[in-house]
Amino acid sequence: MRTTGDVRRVWLAGALVGLSALVVGAGCALFQSERVSKGQKLYAHYCMHCHGEHGRQNEGYNWSSMPDPRPKDLSAKEEMSTFKDEELFATVSREMKDTTPEVGDKIGDDEFAVPTMPTFKYTLSEEELWAIVAYVRTLHGTKLQYDVDGRKKGLQDQLQAAQQQYDRAKQVLETAEKKAEEEAKKKRAEVDDSATSKEQEALAVAAKELEKAKAAEANFSARPKFAAVARPDLTMKPGQAVKLSDDGRRLYMNKYGCHACHRVGETGGVVGPALDRAGFRLNSTWVYRWIKYPQSMKPDTRMPNLGLTDSDAKAIVMYVGTLRAPGPDKSEAKAQAKVE
Ligand code: HEC
Ligand code: HEC
Repeated sequence: MRTTGDVRRVWLAGALVGLSALVVGAGCALFQSERVSKGQKLYAHYCMHCHGEHGRQNEGYNWSSMPDPRPKDLSAKEEMSTFKDEELFATVSREMKDTTPEVGDKIGDDEFAVPTMPTFKYTLSEEELWAIVAYVRTLHGTKLQYDVDGRKKGLQDQLQAAQQQYDRAKQVLETAEKKAEEEAKKKRAEVDDSATSKEQEALAVAAKELEKAKAAEANFSARPKFAAVARPDLTMKPGQAVKLSDDGRRLYMNKYGCHACHRVGETGGVVGPALDRAGFRLNSTWVYRWIKYPQSMKPDTRMPNLGLTDSDAKAIVMYVGTLRAPGPDKSEAKAQAKVE
């Protein structure tokens, strides 16, 4: 028969388990709300002009100026709940794709590739992107399920493993070199470098893996950093310039969706300045540097780094150079007043 003491002990143990679960749960909730409020700030800076404060249609000031498709309603629970956290993350951190039919990139049926929804892969850290996803979840009344801290830990573990692999490969090479040296001494010959080529190769592979793991781990919590943009060579024959600026126009519209934020004539968004007269106003080398890496000139600009390749950037610069609308007359001044 159970004594009262036993019962009390069982009750106490149960209460302790419950209590510790509560503490762990509260810790997570605290973490989660920190992440959400960080995400909210980033959303306000990078997303709100298009998607609106609450994610609703026609709420952001850029919404009605944008070409179709208009920014998605992020508050629509029914639709948004069908996306996994990983899918939302993939949308904000994807590579831009040339959506031009036939000549453009191959795009899978399930792949999200709307040029006027920018990527933030080259602008924000992975942790920041997860914070944004966590905030977006709150807009339709759900919660981030993805284990962000687990991901962070995973990257740290991978880095540690890569470091160990590298150290081991280095040791193996050193041992092999010593052995080759001794053998050479015995034969009174020169040390044969090729005797350790297998070990050298293994070390090179390990070094590459280590670099990759280091970059992935660093990119988790720090924003991506790139080398300074080299001065482009923009000299070319006139025929080539025409072809290139045609390509540039296509990429501007169908790959990088620059018109989502910039107006030319009557079309395009109003997040950035109108580019009607950019060909007169802006120096080509400057434009090249800006579009390749806006954050290097203005770290907090709302214009994301869209990951332009050198050749795409060159083509777009040629196109921007052709934008030479006549100076503001009355009708344009009126249109300007309407925008403001
Ligand atoms: C320049 C305007 C613009 C900005 C800035 C912008 N978006 Fe979008 N967003 C769009 C457009 C356009 C779509 C596509 C709508 C469609 O396909 O129906 C879209 C779609 C989405 C989708 C739905 C993706 C899918 O699979 O259908 C999500 C999620 C999203 N945006 C999140 C964000 C977040 C988060 C940010 C900020 C980090 C952001 N957007 C910034 C314009 C923008
Ligand atoms: C999400 C919105 C957004 C997208 C997409 C975008 N830009 Fe911008 N852009 C801006 C903003 C905002 C500025 C103003 C810079 C600042 O002061 O922060 C800007 C500035 C510029 C400028 C300098 C304009 C001037 O008059 O000083 C050029 C040129 C430019 N962008 C070209 C492009 C091109 C080309 C693309 C496509 C590859 C592009 N932008 C995509 C938002 C955007």
